[in-house]
Parts: sequence; C-alpha cells; structure tokens
Amino acid sequence: MLSAAKNIWIAVLVYGSIVVGFLVNNWNVIIDGNRDTTSNHSLSTEYANPEDVTLGNKVILFWNAFFYDEDFRFGFGREPFVKYGCPVSRCETTSDKRVMREADAILIHTPLVENMPSRPRVHQTYVMVQVEPHMSNSDILLPAMTGYFNLTMTYRQDSDIVIHYAHRKRNIAFAELVDVDPGDRPKSVVWVVSHCETPSRRELYAEELKRFIDVDVYGDCGSLRCPKKNNTYCRAMYERTYRFYLSFENDICADYVSEKLYHPLRYKIVPIVYGGADYDNVAPPHSVINIVDFPNPKDLADYLRYLARNRTAYNEYFKWKRTGTWFDLNPRQRIADGMCRLCDILHDKNYEYRDYTNIRNWWVDGSCNQTAMDNMISNWKHRS
Ligand SMILES: *[C@@H]1O[C@H](CO)[C@@H](O)[C@H](O)[C@H]1NC(C)=O
Ligand SMILES: *[C@@H]1O[C@H](CO)[C@@H](O)[C@H](O)[C@H]1NC(C)=O
Ligand SMILES: *[C@@H]1O[C@H](CO)[C@@H](O)[C@H](O)[C@H]1NC(C)=O
Ligand SMILES: *[C@@H]1O[C@H](CO)[C@@H](O)[C@H](O)[C@H]1NC(C)=O
Ligand SMILES: *[C@@H]1O[C@H](CO)[C@@H](O)[C@H](O)[C@H]1NC(C)=O
Repeated sequence: MLSAAKNIWIAVLVYGSIVVGFLVNNWNVIIDGNRDTTSNHSLSTEYANPEDVTLGNKVILFWNAFFYDEDFRFGFGREPFVKYGCPVSRCETTSDKRVMREADAILIHTPLVENMPSRPRVHQTYVMVQVEPHMSNSDILLPAMTGYFNLTMTYRQDSDIVIHYAHRKRNIAFAELVDVDPGDRPKSVVWVVSHCETPSRRELYAEELKRFIDVDVYGDCGSLRCPKKNNTYCRAMYERTYRFYLSFENDICADYVSEKLYHPLRYKIVPIVYGGADYDNVAPPHSVINIVDFPNPKDLADYLRYLARNRTAYNEYFKWKRTGTWFDLNPRQRIADGMCRLCDILHDKNYEYRDYTNIRNWWVDGSCNQTAMDNMISNWKHRS
C-alpha cells in the first residue's frame, strides 16, 4: 500500500511539473481521473492527431510496454486488427497517454509497471496483462489494485482473455517421419539450466535422478557449457547426443508452461516435464514424459532405460509430428489472439464482467503450488 501510494505521489509531482505549460487537461486526467465520469468515446480536441482515431472504433491504450515493446508486440492503430484477421476489428491501439480520457480500455503489463494510473472512470475497462506467474519480487502494486481491474489477460485458462504460450494450429502441412535409433545417442538426459534454486525445487528431483541415470547439466548450475548465443548449434548437439531433455519449470503454477516445453518439442528429443499445467492440454499427444506419472526418480530412470532399448516405444513419442498439429511459437500470434479477443469483448454489450475486487485472491493466492516437490519427496521416501 505504502509504496503504491508513494508512487502515485511521485507521479503527481513529476507529472504536475510537466503539466505547467502544456497538455494541462490531459496530464491531469491521468493522475486525477475523477474529472470526467461521462461516457463520451469521441476524442477531445486536445488530441494531437484526431484523425488517427476513428469514431466508432474502441480505443485501446497501452499504458506501459510489454517487456521492451511499446506496441505490445502487436502494433499501433487499427491495421493490426485487420492484418491478424480478428473477427471483430473495430479497435485501435496507441501508447499515447493523451488519449487516456477517451480510451475504452487501458492495458497494463503489471509486472513491469512503474506507476499505475489512478482508477478513474467507471466506463473504462482496465486490463491486467501477465504472461508469467506471480513472483514475490514483482507485482508490487497488486495490493493497491483492489477494485481496479475489469479484465485479465494472462496464461491462466480461467482468465477473460487467455494468452497461450504456444498458439495451437491444426491440420497444417507438417508431417515428419521420425525414426530415431535411441542406441545412436551416446547419453541419456540433458538439463540446460541457469536458475539453480527455484520455487519449484526441481533441483531436488534432478539430484535424485542423477543417482540412477546420467544427467548432464549445462549452464550456470552445472559443469558443462554451451554458449547461449550458439543456440542452434547447442540444440543440434543435444539432439545428437541425448535421448531426453529435462523441461522442468521454475514455478509450479496452474496452467503455466514456458519455452522449456516447446523448444525441445521442435527437435527429435523427448522432454521430461514437471510443471503446473495439464500437459494433455498444452502439449501434443504422447509427446512428453511427466515425472508425476512415476512414484519416484528411480522408477523414472528405469523407464528411460527401457525406452533406450526399445526403439519402437521411444519413437512413439515422435508420432504426433506426423499428425499435422503443431504449436506455433510466434510471440506476435499469441498476443494477436489476445488482442482480437479483447476487441471482441469491448464491442460485446452482453459480456459478463467478473468481479476482481480482490484480484490477489485470484492471481496470487493458490495459483502456484509451493509444496508440490515436498509432497513428491515424502511419497518416494515413504515407499523406499
Ligand atoms: C461528446 O463530446 C463531443 C466533443 O466534446 C461533443 O460534441 C458531444 O456532444 C459529446 N457527446 C455526448 C454524448 O456527450
Ligand atoms: C470496472 O471496474 C471498476 C472498478 O472496480 C468498476 O467500478 C466498474 O463498474 C467495472 N466495469 C465493469 C464493466 O464491470
Ligand atoms: C558454435 O560452437 C561450435 C563449437 O564450439 C563452433 O564450432 C561453431 O563455430 C559455433 N558457431 C557459431 C555460429 O558461433
Ligand atoms: C517395445 O515397445 C513396443 C511399443 O510400445 C511394445 O509393443 C513392445 O512390447 C516393446 N518390446 C519390448 C521387448 O519390451
Ligand atoms: C501441490 O502439488 C502436490 C503434488 O502434486 C499435490 O499433492 C497438492 O495437492 C498440490 N497442492 C495444491 C494446493 O494444489
């Protein structure tokens, strides 16, 4: 609360001094939103380029950048809605805060926001954007967001707008006949890792697994190195050398998966997964080995050795590559899917807005499982 209040006061001071001399009305609106409570979506005359914003389009303001991208990896104006083939495309985007008063929706990438607009007019739609789980050191402003947001745009399946890590494409011409002889690969398991201690405590599982099968560790947490800037070379080398690739997430959070799953799927290597998502939903059928399906790391190691000997069983993990379903990792496409949905909602008079009065309940509490590894460990200790 305190830090949020402080931020707002800093904003008042900083913007307050800018206000003197130019754009008085508009900058005031950002800080003190209570001035205009009427619903008038046409643009004020103060707006620098009134012709940029067409009457009837819903105006979407990017309050801050999406990571480094001012245009949210989507684009400005109406054009991207058309380009991406949105079913409802009468929307346009801008990052020009001078449209604050007229904007229909305000998108805030909350993990990286420095100061939030005060919650001004009820007719505006405030959208929380997050593509990664809540971390203790981010989202510092969340406590101040009571009664703030109207929509959520996150990787969670129960968001208003779901941003999938990978965009699922069906029936595209992608048919790869894979037949790998696992015996050609000299080694078993590779793990590429730079965060050595994580909330998921995946490192404890890897330690135990190493007792039963060879696990080579590349990156800051291991003794082997393959420079990141040489990624293509490294991945080809992993594919030639190893049969399995550890795809363990940093955090065990509902619906959350990352590139740790999708990158190895592009290669002829079988991911061994640990994460909070339902992998039947996020990965192709029979494409991964999930550690939760094994009572302990020893049994997993036994199964990996079995696959190393049984070429047919090993290649069953690549069968999906011939089905014509692929997961598109294009980061622009996933944002575009979300923006299309947002435009749709903004035009939908019957959309049932949810109550995010206590967004902390939804986003933070109970979203990530801090005890998943403890539970697993006590289970395997119990058995042995
Ligand atoms: C909206 O604002 C414009 C420009 O200030 C004004 O001409 C128009 O009458 C307003 N419409 C409504 C519905 O208030
Ligand atoms: C959006 O949220 C604000 C603040 O909680 C609320 O006053 C407003 O009614 C909400 N709008 C909709 C359409 O639910
Ligand atoms: C990648 O690394 C390999 C082995 O160290 C080296 O032979 C190759 O030239 C590197 N490629 C690039 C593009 O740096
Ligand atoms: C090898 O795997 C195939 C396919 O899963 C299975 O039908 C077969 O029985 C396995 N062979 C042996 C020797 O385990
Ligand atoms: C956390 O994960 C463990 C192990 O999968 C499971 O037993 C437990 O019910 C989960 N807890 C929550 C709150 O989801």
